[in-house]
This record gives sequence, structure tokens and C-alpha cells, in this order.
Amino acid sequence: MAAQIIDGKAIAAFVREDIKTQVPGLREKYGRVPCLCVIIVGENPASKVYVRNKVKATEEAGMESRLLALPESVSEEELLALIGKLNADDGVDGILVQLPLPKHIDEDKVIDAISVDKDVDGFHVLNVGSLQLGRHCIVPCTPKGIMCLLTSTGVPLNGCNAVVVGRSNIVGKPVAKLLLDANATVTVAHSRTADLGAVTRRADVLVVAVGRESLITADMVKPGAVVIDVGMNRNAEGKLCGDVDFEGVKEVAGWITPVPGGVGPMTIAMLLKNTAECFENRLGNCNDII
Ligand code: GUN
Repeated sequence: MAAQIIDGKAIAAFVREDIKTQVPGLREKYGRVPCLCVIIVGENPASKVYVRNKVKATEEAGMESRLLALPESVSEEELLALIGKLNADDGVDGILVQLPLPKHIDEDKVIDAISVDKDVDGFHVLNVGSLQLGRHCIVPCTPKGIMCLLTSTGVPLNGCNAVVVGRSNIVGKPVAKLLLDANATVTVAHSRTADLGAVTRRADVLVVAVGRESLITADMVKPGAVVIDVGMNRNAEGKLCGDVDFEGVKEVAGWITPVPGGVGPMTIAMLLKNTAECFENRLGNCNDII
């Protein structure tokens, strides 16, 4: 039997609608709505699309959005100065610097310059550390969205074998920690893993975030597994595709996310959640939206 499709687009739409209905209440309670500042440096076409989608989603949720587009030539010093100004601006609740940055700018330095309570991406070293220690933190958007998709299947994570393929700071490492927190037995595989198929075939839950088209084929998947494809690749025809051979794997898996329409839309929905959470953390200590 073919896998059930995890409709990330529909789940994200539901989350976004839910946030939208809560924004008027926030305005009433705090006198303004959450404000997200998005900074983009240079002309990377993919980054421009992502940023446009983030701004549009923020506005559609009824929140304030500010887009700051800087030229490729901007210096690290100028960018840090801008972040300093936004940190000090009480009307700004979230600051997101779209990555990657041009080579002459130190990404770590920029991320860590963002005030930890405005770090909607959850990339700041203190947020990363807090996540690892199980302390209160802003959870990075894509891993948070993946957990939401897994919950939507109703498949229990408690005691399951979860395999994460990929060890990036943005997805692989944080999602492994979130799966561990959900009591999964977690294996992190990567480009140097010997006999990747033998590892992935043990997975009840398989999360793939590598950036290589069709890395995961049907023979590498346990029958009935939940497969989450975080890949965003362009194939030879220029079509967007994931890291999983969707057509083959859907005949084996129990659940699978499509690309597009799986993890991608969830990242944006979680960004809105994180923006509302930063707003609430800053302005009050209640948890209307978490
Ligand atoms: N570039 C690719 N993904 C992301 C993300 O989630 N946040 C930021 N800031 N940049 C990215």
C-alpha cells in the first residue's frame, strides 16, 4: 500500500490561520502586534525568494514586517551596527538575517550579535546551548516544523528508532535533539556513514537533510516508516526535488512528505510562531502562542 502523504502545506496553512486569529488579541493586550525584521545581504536568488515568502507570511498573519535589503558590498561592521540598532529598538521583536552571507562577513559573529531574545531563527549560540541543555529556548524553525509534521501522523516517537541523515547546525543537529527529547533512539548519519542503507533501513522515523537529489531510494527505507524529506534541490530539468526518491519510496514508507509542499511551508509557519513567542517573552510572561 502506498504511503500516506504528510501535507505540510495544509498543516502550515492551519498553523498560520491559528496565529492570525490570535494576533488581534495580542494587539489588544500589548497595544501593538509582533514585528519581525528580515535582513538580506546581496542578490542570492534563492534567498530573495525565501525572504519574500517570509515577509508575505508575516504580513498575512497580521504582524508587522520590515525588510532590510543590503548590498553585497556592505561591511561586517555596518551589518553589526544595524543589528545593534534593531536590538535596541523596542518595537522590534524578531531579527532574522538570511543565510548564507557573503564570504567577507563572519556568519557566527553576525548571528551572535542578534539579541538572544529576538533570535527568531534560534541560531544564537545561547539558544543552541539552551536547546542542548533542555532549557527554555527558541527552537529553530525547520526542526520545530518537522516535529509538528511527525506529531500530525499520530505515530508514537516514544521508543522508536529515528535516523537523521545530515548533521547541519540548522536542521540535523537540532532535530536529533528534539527527537531525543521525544524519547526516540536517535542515530545521526552523514556523508561519511558506512553503508548508509543499512542504517536508514532500521529507521521507524527517517529525517533526511543532506541536499542531494534522490539520496534515499526505496531499498533504503523500512516498510511503514515515516519519511521526512528536508531536501530542496533542483534536478536536471530545473524542477524542485528533495533528497528522497519520492516515487519509489512512497511505495514502501507508511508516511512521506512531498517536495515541494512538505517541510518548506512549515519552516515559515514556525517562523511566525517564533516571532509571536519572542514578542510574548519580551512583553509579558504569558504563553498565548507557543
Ligand atoms: N537560509 C536557509 N535556511 C535558513 C533559515 O532557516 N534561516 C535563515 N536566517 N537563513 C536560512
